[in-house]
Amino acid sequence: MEVYKDPSQPIEERVEDLLKRMTLDEKIGQMRQYSSFTKEIKDLVRKGLVGSLLNVTGIDKVNEVQKAAIEGSRLGIPLLLGLDVIHGYRTIFPIPLALASTWDPSVVRRAARIAAKEASSEGITWTFAPMVDIARDPRWGRIAEGAGEDPYLGSIMAWAAVRGFQGDNLSDPDAILACAKHYIAYGGAEGGRDYNTVDISDRTLREVYLPPFRAAVLAGVGTIMSAFNDLNGVPASANEYTLRKILREELGFKGFVVSDWNAIGELINHGIAGDVYGAAKEAVEAGVDMDMQGDVYRRALRKLVEDGAISEKLIDDAVRRILEVKFKLGLFENPYANPERARKVVKCKEHLDFALEAARKSIVLLKNEGVLPLRKDLKTIAVIGPLANDRTAPLGSWYCLGDPKDVVTVLEGIRSKVPPQTKVLYAKGCDVEGDSKEGFEEAISIAKQSDVAILVVGERGDMSGEAASRAYLDLPGVQEDLVKAVYETGVPVVVVLMNGRPLSVKWIAEHVPAIIEAWFLGIQMGHAVADVLFGDYNPGGKLPVTFPRTVGHVPIYYNHKNTGRPPDPKNKYTSKYIDEDYRPLFPFGHGLSYTTFSYTGLEVKPKEVEPGDIVLISFTLTNTGEREGDEVAQLYIRKPVASVTRPVKELKGFIRVTLKPGEKRKVTFKLPTEQLAFYNSEMKLVIEAGAYHVMIGSSSQDIRLTSEFRISKTKEISLRTLKFTEAIIK
Ligand code: NOJ
Repeated sequence: MEVYKDPSQPIEERVEDLLKRMTLDEKIGQMRQYSSFTKEIKDLVRKGLVGSLLNVTGIDKVNEVQKAAIEGSRLGIPLLLGLDVIHGYRTIFPIPLALASTWDPSVVRRAARIAAKEASSEGITWTFAPMVDIARDPRWGRIAEGAGEDPYLGSIMAWAAVRGFQGDNLSDPDAILACAKHYIAYGGAEGGRDYNTVDISDRTLREVYLPPFRAAVLAGVGTIMSAFNDLNGVPASANEYTLRKILREELGFKGFVVSDWNAIGELINHGIAGDVYGAAKEAVEAGVDMDMQGDVYRRALRKLVEDGAISEKLIDDAVRRILEVKFKLGLFENPYANPERARKVVKCKEHLDFALEAARKSIVLLKNEGVLPLRKDLKTIAVIGPLANDRTAPLGSWYCLGDPKDVVTVLEGIRSKVPPQTKVLYAKGCDVEGDSKEGFEEAISIAKQSDVAILVVGERGDMSGEAASRAYLDLPGVQEDLVKAVYETGVPVVVVLMNGRPLSVKWIAEHVPAIIEAWFLGIQMGHAVADVLFGDYNPGGKLPVTFPRTVGHVPIYYNHKNTGRPPDPKNKYTSKYIDEDYRPLFPFGHGLSYTTFSYTGLEVKPKEVEPGDIVLISFTLTNTGEREGDEVAQLYIRKPVASVTRPVKELKGFIRVTLKPGEKRKVTFKLPTEQLAFYNSEMKLVIEAGAYHVMIGSSSQDIRLTSEFRISKTKEISLRTLKFTEAIIK
């Protein structure tokens, strides 16, 4: 048996053995990825000239292509079969932004684990997830696909998702390869316009956009996707500084880099290459190992090597990395879909149950002035709005192989919750977009007959995600007018928001007594929303993003700098607006409950530590209300005096705790001083000496307890030292 085919041989030797046998064309073939499976591509696969396909789905198709590669080609190298398994495969979970609202990484990890089990059973071996882009601009539609605005929360969720997809061991049959994307700073698009230029400082790059990628790499992510955008003049898919220096040298990333869809070809549009040869050279030299769909590597690499414009070693290195991942995944041993396993796991009861749990945990109660929870024995309930009975929107964007038929709409959820004697009336009212108010009359009429009106408004699922940037952040169309018209009937109103980004719903926030942020919650959306409306589940999610009052607030984020003139209402010459309150509509970390919590007895020990030590921050959290509920206790830190300006606060720890009425728990955050490191004026990553403020609270604005500690001296640390804050509950 050839060494590369022998699973008992070390992976390194299998890779070298295989590489030795490959022709230059076969090597370049491993660096090529195509979408779909046409006859032409099948021929290429049989010739061993393709390394990976994406978007090929269905057990028979998948097995057919894999067979063409393994039995049809000279060396029998299996294909990596990629797919955007973003928030579920067939069992669709809440969108990533909603999952981040759980502030519970175990939910993110389990959702990814389930998605991996389902996808792998049908032969998918690679997902283009998690998206770990920080987003501070809700105009950017892709904010829906990530964990929001905060580097710390984003890092924890990135870690959890990678571990979930890849499982304990990549070679397990139910593990799939993860891909952290879009490297890097894609979320910094100017004007929030997708694919747009990004121009940010090296400090912002490293302190804001890099941390979740760092967490993904240190969690063992197998692949990274290089982004579409240019960054400070150099496209991310041709960027030696970010791809070789930061990713490989500083972070020690050992997997391979795939470009985003035709991002190598687009180097020509960016204007840093005149033709495919220039584009391929830039990309391969920067360290992009695989060309997604662009066909540039096929057209250019061979000639570049023959002309001596690039060395064959560059190709060998890229192929080595790709093959190594294939071996680690166990693809050579276990390449095919497993119909029997698929029958057992896909959309099984356990997965559907967990989709409900994840959906409930993702809901954020934004406002509640005594309306919620609703009694179930109301006589008549009006359910109104274009999204109330929509079966597609709850799936959000990138819903993979999700099926709208599996979705429980909000109307259905409500109907299944109330007793038979409760009448549930429904009116659509208007469309999500457009200006027709024809349906208003019916909506007003059913509201007038009811004890409460539940308005389900927001965005369609395809209004966020890729290429779905918005210039306005209001409710689209005439939906706000619909809310106003129903509100004016005098019936108590509850607004349920279904959307993929923060919306500037200022009028609603000021007038409507109860608002639920439900995002797109996946197939169990209706049940989860109904559970919260009627109090069968007490909401405990918190916002992972700031809600602006108006689009003019953007970019807006809680961890901003203090400036030389922080806002002072009494002083005109301070940093504010003359025509709008500068404060957010709803702050980062905000979320209410049907119960209340108190925070008491903060202790910080020791008061002075050395770099490398741990600070113990403890307090008592008590449920002071009458129902069981969840609270997300949040730890923020500020360094009031530093060698460079620092944010007014930074999240450095959190924990979601469930407490019975009257129950008290002692929460201790074990804060590693490495979490406090930042780049000093010489751009060295240091834990800097001096005083640190400690803030414990229920949101970034609702700070309940404060204290401080000191670090005795300054110490430089490596980017590879990543320690998260642990929380202990007693
Ligand atoms: C383009 C998107 O930017 C990326 O997120 C996705 O994974 C690829 N297309 C593949 O579908």
